[in-house]
Amino acid sequence: METILRNRDLVSRDDASADLEDRGYQFGDGIYEVIRVYDGEPFLLDEHMDRFERSAREISLKMPCERAELLGRMRGLIAANEIATGTIYVQMTRGVHPRSQMFPPDSVPAEVTAFARPLDRPGAEQRNGVSAILTADMRWLRCDIKSLNLLPNVLARQTARKAGCYEAIQHRGEAVTEGAFSNVFIVAEGVVLTTPASNLILSGITRAKLLELCEACGWPVVERTVACQELLGAEEVFITSTVNEVMPVVRVNDQTIGNGEPGPVTRNLQKAFDRAIDGAADV
Ligand SMILES: Cc1ncc(COP(=O)(O)O)c(C=O)c1O
Repeated sequence: METILRNRDLVSRDDASADLEDRGYQFGDGIYEVIRVYDGEPFLLDEHMDRFERSAREISLKMPCERAELLGRMRGLIAANEIATGTIYVQMTRGVHPRSQMFPPDSVPAEVTAFARPLDRPGAEQRNGVSAILTADMRWLRCDIKSLNLLPNVLARQTARKAGCYEAIQHRGEAVTEGAFSNVFIVAEGVVLTTPASNLILSGITRAKLLELCEACGWPVVERTVACQELLGAEEVFITSTVNEVMPVVRVNDQTIGNGEPGPVTRNLQKAFDRAIDGAADV
């Protein structure tokens, strides 16, 4: 039986139901994180927790406990579910209170829920590459907050799926923003390009790691607006996320990217990312 974190307690899945009046349930009034687990260890945990706390601050949501306490419980979750390779999902909502759009009183504590599940690394997709569609970005103007409100992402992903594609790469006007569940990079004339962090994208933890790896390896990398036409004509395209790591994109709409196979820069960055994972495991 799966074990879930409900606030302070580790409980069995059957005992972990949501309250009808939970604001996450009624308004999507909350935030979340997805953290990779490799070899039983959460990867880039501090970075994820920094972003979690930032998201909370940005929507004036008070953490109900110290970070160390929450981390202890999350580790307990990994152990209880015997997760080797997987993910932790953790969310925090503005608590349980009779439905009203106004914030509840300060005395209402945030509700924290987390689960840890096994999930293999997407090896076949990473070797072969995936396809994507380009779609208009319909989201709000605070995409930097990892909010529970994912309806536009859900709709974009479903459109991609109907088109037989893996990801939906979103754009505002001519500018590429990000995927429905990933950040987007292209390689043009040997330079790695990615949309700058702003309110229009989620500042991905994997994205930041990739930028760091590019710098460490001396590969030219520039954060600037990428136009849809540039993406379609790029030598290489790849997406990054906690779940996908470094995922080559070999077709966008009807356009084959490069020669239709994952390109050399993407391959090298995949290897560098693998080393970062192995390095974290060695610490
Ligand atoms: C919209 C969006 N952008 C980017 C990312 C990648 O972020 P991270 O690398 O922190 O997983 C995600 C991850 O789910 C996402 O949902």
